[in-house]
Amino acid sequence: MKVLVVGSGGREHALAWKIAQSPLVTEVLCAPGNPGTAQVARNVAVPAGDVDGLVQLAQSEDVGLVVVGPEDPLCDGLGDRLREAGIRCFGPGAKGARLEGSKIEAKDLLERHRIPTAGSKRFDHSGRAKGYLESLTEWPQVIKADGLAAGKGVAICDDADEACAAVDAIMEERRHGDAGARILVEEFMEGEEASVFAITDGETLLILEPVQDHKQVGEGDTGPNTGGMGVFSPVSLVSPRVHRQIEQRILIPTVHALRQEEIPYQGILFVGLMLTDAGPRVVEYNVRFGDPECQALVRRLKSDLVPILIAAADGCLADVEPPEWDRRPVVGVVAAAEGYPGSYRKGSPISGLDEAAEVPGVEVFHAGTSERAGEVVTSGGRVLCITALGETMDEARDRAYEAFDAIQWDGKFCRRDIGRRRARAVELEGATEE
Ligand code: AMP
Ligand code: GLY
Repeated sequence: MKVLVVGSGGREHALAWKIAQSPLVTEVLCAPGNPGTAQVARNVAVPAGDVDGLVQLAQSEDVGLVVVGPEDPLCDGLGDRLREAGIRCFGPGAKGARLEGSKIEAKDLLERHRIPTAGSKRFDHSGRAKGYLESLTEWPQVIKADGLAAGKGVAICDDADEACAAVDAIMEERRHGDAGARILVEEFMEGEEASVFAITDGETLLILEPVQDHKQVGEGDTGPNTGGMGVFSPVSLVSPRVHRQIEQRILIPTVHALRQEEIPYQGILFVGLMLTDAGPRVVEYNVRFGDPECQALVRRLKSDLVPILIAAADGCLADVEPPEWDRRPVVGVVAAAEGYPGSYRKGSPISGLDEAAEVPGVEVFHAGTSERAGEVVTSGGRVLCITALGETMDEARDRAYEAFDAIQWDGKFCRRDIGRRRARAVELEGATEE
C-alpha cells in the first residue's frame, strides 16, 4: 500500500520515517516534504494547503492511506474531500477540526458537555470586551483570538491596560487576521501544564505515552513562546491517578460529546491541560500530532503505526492490540536558527548531519531545511529535531546534545535543559516499579 503524508516539518519527517518501516507499506509519498522526508519517502511538490491537488495526487497514485500532519488542511476540509473521493484518511473532517480551528466553538462544546475548563466570556466587539475588562478586579486574565494564529493568539495579561492593548492588537489591528474577529476572555488557571495525545476513531480511544514539550525559547522556561524547543518522554508529572482523571473527566467525555453532536472524528485528539488543585482542566484542543511531541512518540513506539492509523480511519480501533512502547526514555532537542521565534536568517549550509546520525540511539528529523545545489540549507526557524533514546534520561540527553554539537551552521542554537525538568523523578519512579 502507498501512504501519503501531508506536510513538510519535523512531525511529518517523523511520521514518514515510522510509516516507511511498516511491512504493509510499499512506498511513502510526502507532500511537499523536505530533504529529511526525501530519505524515507518520495517528495511530491504539492503544497499542504492545496486541497484539490492533494486529492488528485492521492487518486492518481492510488494511495491507500493519507496521514495529514498540520491543522490548516484539516480545517480546510481535506479529510472530508478525501473520504468523499473514497480515499482513507487519518485526520478529522472540517467539523471535527473546529475543535482547534475555533477556540470559541471548542469552549462551547466543553461547556455544553460540562468538561472541566477555564470560565470564559466571548466578544465580537472590542469596545464591549474592553468595558468588561475594565470592570474586572481579578488578574491575570487570558485573552485569546478565536481562530488559528500559529500558537501566537494568546495573551496572559496582568491588568486592564495590558488586556485592552491585547484586545486592540487582536481585534482592531488584526494582528492574526480574521482569527481575531472574535475573542475569548478566560479565567487564568494556576497549575502545571501537561498534554495528552490519543488516537481515536470517534468511539474508541488509544491513549499514547505521556510526552512533554518545552514551549519557551530560553533555558529555565524563559523568553517568548515558540512552536516547541524540545521534548522528552516518559513524563512523571502525569501519575497513574492523574492519568485516570484525564481519561475519565476529559478524554472520554470529549469523545461522547463529539458523538452526541454527530461530529465524526478519525485522528489525533491532542488535549492541552492545566493540572490544577481541582484536577485537570482543558486549556485547548488540537486535532493533530504536536511538533516536536510526534518525533518523541514515534521513537518510543515499537509497534507498527500503520495498522493503528488504518483502524482509526476505518472506525475499528477497538480491534487493534494495544501498542508496545520502548521502556527507554527519549529526548528530542530542537536545533533552531538564531533569532527564532522572531525573524531569522535562511539559507545557511548545514554540515555534520552524517556524524550526528552515527551517535548511538540518535535519529535526526528535518523541520526547516531545504536543498540548494545538492546541499542541505536552513529554511525555517526550527531547523532540526535531534532525538535520542538512552537507558536513562541522562543518557538520552547526552546523546542528543552530542549529536547537536556534531551539526554545524551559522547561528545554530538550542535549549541546553531539555528533559532536565523531570528527569530525576522519572528515574525514581521507574526504580520503584521494578
Ligand atoms: P493555547 O494556545 O490555548 O494553548 O494557549 C497558549 C498557552 O497559554 C498555554 O499553553 C498556556 O501556557 C497559556 N494559557 C492558555 N489559557 C490559559 C488559562 N486559561 N490559564 C492559564 N494559562 C493559559
Ligand atoms: N508542540 C506544540 C504543538 O505542536 O502545538
